[in-house]
Amino acid sequence: MPGVRVEKLCTDPELYMIRVDDDQIRYFEATWDIPEGITYNAYLMKLKDAVVLFDVSKEEYTDLFMDALKKLVDPKEITHIIVHHTEPDHSGALPRLLEENGYRAQIIGTAFARNLLQGFYGDRVVGNFKVVKDGEEMGIGGRTFRFIAVPWLHWPDTMITYVVEDRLIFSCDAGGGYSIPEAIDDRDEEIVKKYLPYVTKYIVTVIGHYHKYIVQNIKKLKELGIVEEAKMILPGHGLAWCKNPKRIFEYYEAVGAGVPEKDKVLVVYDSMYGFVEKRMEIVLDELSKLGKKPVVYRFTDKEAPAVSDILGEVPSAEALIIGASTYEAEIHPRIRYTLYEIVDKANYEKPVLIVGAFGWGGVAGRKIETLITRSRFDHVATVESRGYPTPEDEEKLREAVRKLVQWAS
Ligand code: FEO
Repeated sequence: MPGVRVEKLCTDPELYMIRVDDDQIRYFEATWDIPEGITYNAYLMKLKDAVVLFDVSKEEYTDLFMDALKKLVDPKEITHIIVHHTEPDHSGALPRLLEENGYRAQIIGTAFARNLLQGFYGDRVVGNFKVVKDGEEMGIGGRTFRFIAVPWLHWPDTMITYVVEDRLIFSCDAGGGYSIPEAIDDRDEEIVKKYLPYVTKYIVTVIGHYHKYIVQNIKKLKELGIVEEAKMILPGHGLAWCKNPKRIFEYYEAVGAGVPEKDKVLVVYDSMYGFVEKRMEIVLDELSKLGKKPVVYRFTDKEAPAVSDILGEVPSAEALIIGASTYEAEIHPRIRYTLYEIVDKANYEKPVLIVGAFGWGGVAGRKIETLITRSRFDHVATVESRGYPTPEDEEKLREAVRKLVQWAS
């Protein structure tokens, strides 16, 4: 059952988190398999003569969100609604909220956000919209609100808000992650450790296509000095960062840059009848002799891992090994799709070894090689042959693994 949590984050200013826990979703953006679910976080700040709402929730949870909000405030009393990003997981409840607010609140966002909201929900929603520019400040309720554009993190509309006196960063998608953590913030290290892999998965699947902008935008925020001094970083998904706020942006930076974990090699392959599997046994044996720690995802007639999980492994890998069967003069369909997404969402400068098996004509290896050489990945070698591997094939495979490991070191 989806639920909602309302938690007070601080007293001065009076700040609340309204967190809708979505355990019904299966495929985020109708694509990414997330059995772990996701949360949609909005924040409400009550000031002396202003009530500010930071983002809202997804349309299908409007009732849940409005009921929770009404426990804190009469919607008519909301004076400002800050829209950091218009993707409907954060803006879907806006039309209802504005109706119940009597269209009194000023909506604040970038020019791009205004256009998108108008396109999504019509003219009425943007009737009282204040466009803010990068770095612009507004005095609201005795506080200084600074708006900082972080374009392509991950839409062109995206900005964050920094409340200067209280050193609070409201960051929407930036700093977010999948899953429904038991806690609301980062105070419990065990919960954080469990949560961080879902952050990586979220970054790659949702923001990955623009991952260079993660690095650029976080550099920008660091140069402004606000990451170092922030008391809280409050994202639109997952945990709030109150104990060690800069940790989440540093984590984002590392994922965006594809900083590898020592010795981690990502191995992804299909095997329909065991021909690729036999090759991978040799590959894994050689990796283990070299002290590497392979992380293996295999598509077989009994297993089909989620591509979103595979994507989440790429940024921290030192190297990749892709194994594929040739299937109707093409790459095996599961590997074809997985590769397409890897090259689109997790396109990093990392070495790749390609391993192929075929019955009557080897095509997969060549086609994967073309994809890899056109990407940012480095093609190290392709070892492809017919049927079960011969002793000569085995020697070629072991040699290629050694070359890959050397390349990565
Ligand atoms: Fe969480 Fe890009 O919306």
